[in-house]
Amino acid sequence: MDARSIIADIRHKRTPSREALTWFADGLANSAVSDAQAGAFAMAVCLNGLTDDGRVALTQGMRDSGDVLSWDLPGPVLDKHSTGGVGDCVSLILAPALAACGVYVPMVSGRGLGHTGGTLDKLEAIPGLDVNVTEAGLRRITKDIGCAIVSATGQIAPADKRLYAIRDVTATIESVDLITASILSKKLAAGLEGLVLDVKVGSGAFMKTPQEAGVLARALVDAANGAGCRTAALITDMNQPLAPALGNALEVAVCMEVLAGNRVAAPHLYDLTIALGAGLMALQGGTEEEAASKLRDAISSGQAMARFAAMVAALGGPPDMAEDWHTHLPRAPIIGDVTAPQTGHVTAIDGQALGLAVVGLGGGRQVETDRIDPSVGLTDVVRLGDMVSVGQPLCTLHAASDDTAEAAAQAIRAAITIGPAPQSGPLIIERIT
Ligand code: URA
Repeated sequence: MDARSIIADIRHKRTPSREALTWFADGLANSAVSDAQAGAFAMAVCLNGLTDDGRVALTQGMRDSGDVLSWDLPGPVLDKHSTGGVGDCVSLILAPALAACGVYVPMVSGRGLGHTGGTLDKLEAIPGLDVNVTEAGLRRITKDIGCAIVSATGQIAPADKRLYAIRDVTATIESVDLITASILSKKLAAGLEGLVLDVKVGSGAFMKTPQEAGVLARALVDAANGAGCRTAALITDMNQPLAPALGNALEVAVCMEVLAGNRVAAPHLYDLTIALGAGLMALQGGTEEEAASKLRDAISSGQAMARFAAMVAALGGPPDMAEDWHTHLPRAPIIGDVTAPQTGHVTAIDGQALGLAVVGLGGGRQVETDRIDPSVGLTDVVRLGDMVSVGQPLCTLHAASDDTAEAAAQAIRAAITIGPAPQSGPLIIERIT
């Protein structure tokens, strides 16, 4: 086997054999494949696609590029994963809420990808916190606390860890094959009994139309169920940020508000968290209504916050995150409003452009080696249908310098359309089982 001929096959629209794709996945993990070859492979798959069998073979090869965990715990081992959006910090609330309901959540997560934020980058906005744990660490934290949000370790889906970082900076994200293999390799390697997928559609998602999202959701659900993991998907709206904040520390702050029981801080984020968690718990039996009620209780009672704080401490973060999160999260030196250039209703929000504005502020990566500034981003972002008057804020900008603030302000004004008619659709568009 050699990388050159595997890439050439895909370039010629021929899906390589299962053995070849398995070899490539191993090569990503053991460095038999170079960065240039991984980038060329990702671009060829992105442009020409694989067959259904090829997608499953790549997924399984990437899953088996490291260890596949199995568990012996007194509750179900479940997880959720999103295909990527902006202001999507569901995981930080859902994992501890599920843990408080007796579920075990070994959540192997990703970093920012293209314009979308990554759960790991958000968590690492908490000073001292390190998401790089060993497999033993993942096992211990999951068993003791109920949830562990961590990076793919050297042992779990190492092929995805490498390919993910390369896709982030090579415009090779929007591929059903690569997204399926990426998400499911790490989720299946984590040894889950059940999984719920949040397949985002809209201006801030990788899938821009409900048709594309439907194809991705079906590919994910079929591949995961085929591999023995009971899986459902919700197709959800990403035509505007889910939370009112974008940016790593700023999204953690919103999650802390929600975990403190303050639903109004981010009602859409709260509602989707409950819907995803209820769908997930119901995969194991019982009704979604019962599960939703348990999850709401877990948050309002403070139990979910306690689990989150315990996980933060176990990952090396401050021991008093629940009480003192305001003082721990970093703040940007420049904070100011971006104002509306005209009066009217917010009729469209280009989520991808907002996400890229945050990357431009330093909140995401332009190249693999970039260091993220956790403090920058946006807060109080308007929502579709909101009425704004000229000069009123569209959002508040948190920046490290005047130059980056000015560039982001221009991008944000261009990304938010103000017009005559209010407009917004449902948060949950379709359920796929
Ligand atoms: N999340 C992942 O883990 N991988 C992708 O490719 C997209 C979203």
